Amino acid sequence: MCLIKILKNIAFTALLLTCAVSVAHTGATGIVKERMDGMKDMSKKSKAVARMFKNKSEFDKALVSASAESFILHGEAMIELFPDTEDSRTGSETRALPSVWENWTEFEKYADKFNNDSALLKDALAGSDDPKLLKSAFMKAVGNCRECHKEFRKREKH
Ligand code: HEC
Repeated sequence: MCLIKILKNIAFTALLLTCAVSVAHTGATGIVKERMDGMKDMSKKSKAVARMFKNKSEFDKALVSASAESFILHGEAMIELFPDTEDSRTGSETRALPSVWENWTEFEKYADKFNNDSALLKDALAGSDDPKLLKSAFMKAVGNCRECHKEFRKREKH
């Protein structure tokens, strides 16, 4: 009797563990999710601008402004979303490389440069309606994404 109960308990625990693992794989959580959400928002907004410039569709300044706002919002919060904790370093299938924390001053420099170029983009938007000028300020800001990912983000596994 007792043995059966124990076996049942073990089976139940195993089932619970399987569920917990599958939950962890369906999406990030905690600090990793928080920073991924910010990154995704910037990505969505900047893709819309890139598409507009690429397809040479009618210039829509509002799209560029929305990008700039997202860059500034998430850029300013970025450093704080990479705390040196176990969760932040290894949790939720993060693609952040250990170099973020090993070369923290360098990482901060990349974030600062991004913030600086985002502020310049905002200034350009306030002072001009010229698509060419705004495109160049946008491209400069968005170039920082790739630069930082190259150094601090794991390549996607295929
Ligand atoms: C200072 C460095 C830095 C800058 C600047 C930066 N990123 Fe990232 N980004 C990272 C790191 C590190 C990760 C990995 C985060 C993780 O997996 O925990 C990441 C992850 C991402 C992801 C994946 C999110 C997910 O759901 O897995 C996207 C998309 C992204 N960044 C877009 C952008 C865009 C667009 C910009 C520029 C507008 C940008 N990033 C600027 C460092 C940066």
